[in-house]
Amino acid sequence: MELFNEGSIKFYADNVQNRSAEVFFNPVREFERNLNVILIKALKQDKMEGIDLFAASGVRGLRLSAETGKFSKIIINDIKTKDTVSKNIELNGIKNAEASGFTASKVNCTGLHFDYVDIDPFGSPVRYLPNVIASTKLNGVIALTATDTAPLYGKAKKACRLKYGAVSMKTSYFNELGLRILLKRTEELFNIMERSIDPIFFDVRKHYIRVYVRVARPAQDRIGFLYQCSKCPNRTVDHFDSCPNCGSKMIRLGPLWLGRLFDLDLVKSMVAISGGKEKEYLEALSRETEQVSYYTTDEIASYLKKPEKSMELMPNGTVLNPKGFRTSNDIKNILSAAGS
Ligand SMILES: C[S@@+](CC[C@H](N)C(=O)[O-])C[C@H]1O[C@@H](n2cnc3c(N)ncnc32)[C@H](O)[C@@H]1O
Repeated sequence: MELFNEGSIKFYADNVQNRSAEVFFNPVREFERNLNVILIKALKQDKMEGIDLFAASGVRGLRLSAETGKFSKIIINDIKTKDTVSKNIELNGIKNAEASGFTASKVNCTGLHFDYVDIDPFGSPVRYLPNVIASTKLNGVIALTATDTAPLYGKAKKACRLKYGAVSMKTSYFNELGLRILLKRTEELFNIMERSIDPIFFDVRKHYIRVYVRVARPAQDRIGFLYQCSKCPNRTVDHFDSCPNCGSKMIRLGPLWLGRLFDLDLVKSMVAISGGKEKEYLEALSRETEQVSYYTTDEIASYLKKPEKSMELMPNGTVLNPKGFRTSNDIKNILSAAGS
């Protein structure tokens, strides 16, 4: 094991980014953990009780307890690494954290109810959700990470159908499709527990989807479909069997979460207390509009067989893709604007 530093803490871990590492630590995820710290600092709640269920070295839970000032108590749990987590808590002199080593699916056996629960396993987080929801207070926050991007991003369609109960395909907006499929499955599991999700934040990259949802009372149904033309770039949440632009067959993708993806007020509060690359990301997110799915300048150009339009000419960019833009215009207007 090696000694590392991240944020304000030091900790022991193995620097191997694979599953056989004894104490897993991925330094590439520092940016994502920085956003995690900023988000917790920006929440209105204080004296929270939290649990980091898949802690590995404990870096996340240690940072949350040391850097946010928001937790009266945080449990840093991992089925394999309790001793290292205890050592890391001691190394940093953190008083409000304790190590534990149970399997995450037994979280409801603790009899505790948390304000914040973190689910960061290898692969999909969904199988842990029913127990986690039962252990989270109303208005509490659940953060979940999915690293099984092949099904979510449309590369493993059968696995997507089996695990997430949704039809996916390869698209230019694959990461938003994955995010909305993950949220759809999350919402279904919340509904079983007579709760609804209220998504407050996301950070989606090539190798993971990270999303934060508030536990809300059951709300109106926000699950539906996206219809993608099999030939042209057209896509719409309105039901068409054939494409109003080119007449080709429309493919029904989903079901998907069609509700909001983040809480603008929270993101603005996060902007106010951040700096550097994190602030840049948060500012861009705060400008994001609410249309479902985005187009990309390269897919439009390749369809039109014309040179790509610069993003400066396209309004409403998205943090999900540097060439992506959201628009309420229909496909005919988009194509004529891009072709002119
Ligand atoms: C992706 S790592 C967590 C990374 C950590 N959250 C971070 O930010 O560095 C997943 C961890 O989950 C642990 N784990 C796997 N299955 C578990 C289970 N059923 N319950 C609790 N921990 C588990 C593994 O030992 C591993 O350390």
